[in-house]
Amino acid sequence: MGGYFEIKDLKVGFKTFEGEKSVLDIDFLALDKGETYGIVGESGAGKTVLALTILRLLPVPPAFVGSGSVLFNGEELLQKTEREMRKIRGRSISMIFQDPMSTLNPVFTVGEQIIRVFRNNNRFSRKEAEKEALKMINMVKLPDARNIMDKYPHELSGGQRQRIVIAIALSCGAEFLIADEPTRNLDVTIQAGILKLVAELQRELGVTVLFIANNLGLVSAVCNRVAILHQGRIVEAGKVREVLKDPRHPYTLTLINAIPGNRGERVDLDSISYREDKDICKEGCRYYSGCLRKQDICRARMPASGQITATHTVACHMAFKGGEADVKEHTQG
Ligand SMILES: Nc1ncnc2c1ncn2[C@@H]1O[C@H](COP(=O)(O)OP(=O)(O)O)[C@@H](O)[C@H]1O
Ligand SMILES: [Mg+2]
Repeated sequence: MGGYFEIKDLKVGFKTFEGEKSVLDIDFLALDKGETYGIVGESGAGKTVLALTILRLLPVPPAFVGSGSVLFNGEELLQKTEREMRKIRGRSISMIFQDPMSTLNPVFTVGEQIIRVFRNNNRFSRKEAEKEALKMINMVKLPDARNIMDKYPHELSGGQRQRIVIAIALSCGAEFLIADEPTRNLDVTIQAGILKLVAELQRELGVTVLFIANNLGLVSAVCNRVAILHQGRIVEAGKVREVLKDPRHPYTLTLINAIPGNRGERVDLDSISYREDKDICKEGCRYYSGCLRKQDICRARMPASGQITATHTVACHMAFKGGEADVKEHTQG
């Protein structure tokens, strides 16, 4: 497989008063069609910037995309015109934001908002669009769809709103969903319901999901593969099972230790993040100052990603025998 969605050598930054600040530096990330892939990292790691870069929604400037490639179905998204991107957004790739109110319009009923999507995209009659909207509300497992149709966003709970946002995302016919911390502002039990829904939709509709979270516990509940993002770099990636069982990056270990015993409970990663001394280590590993295993090499050179197994990669000098990564080119078979 492979070749469905692929990011290579992507460098994104912001121009600030103090100069250019690198925010993302991703060597390689690939999703197979139909899988749910998790991205985990603490606040400020670059998760939202990644999502916005894919959809070309970053404000340029102050942001800039230094280099790299984002391939979707064999097409280079970074080379698309705004007009071409407008066709891709929604119809092929849809984003679910952390805050559902950023997607919903407060002055229209949610039924009306879904109906509009159908009318705009498919030139449906009002009646046809209404029927489709009802179907979508049923699909996201909201009971009493007729009644929900007539509600304004503020009359719904946070979990119900997020379900409506998912319905809207799917109404456009998107096959690839980017969910940026969709459950961050929800209670634990509501969170579990949304996770279950994402998993069911993925199974039933075969959509591909890039699931962004700040919590490895959430990701392990719905994803088959995961990439750990630390200060804009993927420090470890692999099947969820192998990353949880055999974590090789010290930062991954920190994240695993933060998963509470009872599944699905929320951990705020911000609470375990530490202050990074950015001056110490410009050339070296970005985890240097927080790392307990560090050696001289870590300060001198940024570790490249190396293979632990065919599916498990890690970017840490200390994760390999002999101290240095046996770096191989990534090949996605
Ligand atoms: N408009 C901006 N100007 C400068 N820096 C920004 C801007 N937007 C985001 N950043 C920086 O990019 C980094 C990643 O942000 P973000 O992707 O929102 O993190 P996450 O979603 O992982 O919490 C942060 O360090 C943030 O300061
Ligand atoms: Mg974010």
